[in-house]
Amino acid sequence: MRTSNDIRKDFPIFDDNKIAYLDSAATSQKPRCVLDSIKKFYETQNANPHRGAYSLGVSATKAYNDCRDTVAKFINAKSSDEIIFTKNSTESLNLIANSYGLDNLTEGDEIALSIMEHHSMIVPWQKVASVKKAVLKYMYLNGDYQIDEAEIEKKITDKTKVVGILSVSNALGTINDYKKIIDKAHSVGAVVVLDVTQSIAHMPLDVQNIDADFVVFSAHKMYGPLGIGILYGKKKLLDNMTPFLLGGHMIEYVYEDHTTFANTPDKFEAGTQNADGAVGLKSAIEYILDVGYPNIEKIEKELTKYAYDELSKLDFVKLYCTKDLSHHTSVISFNINGVHSHDVSSILDMYGVCIRAGNHCAQPLMRFLEIDGTCRISLAIYNTKKDIDRLVNALKKVYKTFKKYVEEK
Ligand code: ALA
Repeated sequence: MRTSNDIRKDFPIFDDNKIAYLDSAATSQKPRCVLDSIKKFYETQNANPHRGAYSLGVSATKAYNDCRDTVAKFINAKSSDEIIFTKNSTESLNLIANSYGLDNLTEGDEIALSIMEHHSMIVPWQKVASVKKAVLKYMYLNGDYQIDEAEIEKKITDKTKVVGILSVSNALGTINDYKKIIDKAHSVGAVVVLDVTQSIAHMPLDVQNIDADFVVFSAHKMYGPLGIGILYGKKKLLDNMTPFLLGGHMIEYVYEDHTTFANTPDKFEAGTQNADGAVGLKSAIEYILDVGYPNIEKIEKELTKYAYDELSKLDFVKLYCTKDLSHHTSVISFNINGVHSHDVSSILDMYGVCIRAGNHCAQPLMRFLEIDGTCRISLAIYNTKKDIDRLVNALKKVYKTFKKYVEEK
């Protein structure tokens, strides 16, 4: 098994060892193999995929479609046709809400979301609820930052048509029991939109095993490039959906007054596609599989436990974390008593420590927890105990700076 000290050498951004990068939930750093694959694509294969009939164009199309096959295999989809490329998870979620939601929901139908959802899940379904006069319901958390079974039973009812759930909260790191939620949703005939953006770099996914309907994730949070996202959908669902974006390539025939559409997946991919992104994503998937999920889980579990223990020793820090770390990924949210998270993160930056602060695009969750926001660290396979030590030392300095004002309050 590889260690994080060894893995870290794969990431050129750490060559000068200047930063403790603890913000991989926002975007992960990229290994050399991903960067090289993109460079090679532009140097040897670049043409517009799906357009040029000449050899270079065919080669670009092949590079793009190879990635579709790789993604399908990676998540165990039945067919590559079930994989749609988008810009990111947000676009994938908008596609589902606009194409599936607007076509299938009617007045009085219910949409059940967890209160932990990212704005990219909440806002599109708010639009659907408003246009279709459907009812939005939220599954709230218990005192241990988890959705318990009683809440699932209460909020997913015979009227529920869609359930939106993230596998892991980007703001808290809680792992949701999404299999239980999928089973409950299917028992009432609802479809589930599963957002695995925050888990796909950390734990494997088998869409057939969990009987997923729709799944979304982004390449850039799994060591791949920015600008390419994935939507998995069961073929039967995708085939019955109307396209979201209209334009070139997604058509069959265009007449002066109407258009017929291409088949799935092409009907969802209008315009020139992100072929270099696809090449980078393929390389990122190969990188994850090469390191291996068991190795990834081992490194991240150990490091999360170390971070949790070290942060717990600081009496000025409040953690927003499940008691049992087996329900938790490598995201830890906390606050320093009396100090705004933005101030904490700005001072940490002076010590080369990169964290995210604020509401993490989860304002309803923050309102539910009665806080403005949190400081959030999110760890990946290239982080080491040294990064955590740097964080903890810098936090002590932050508190020393603010202690006088906090005590005067
Ligand atoms: N959704 C990303 C995050 O949690 C940007 O940081």
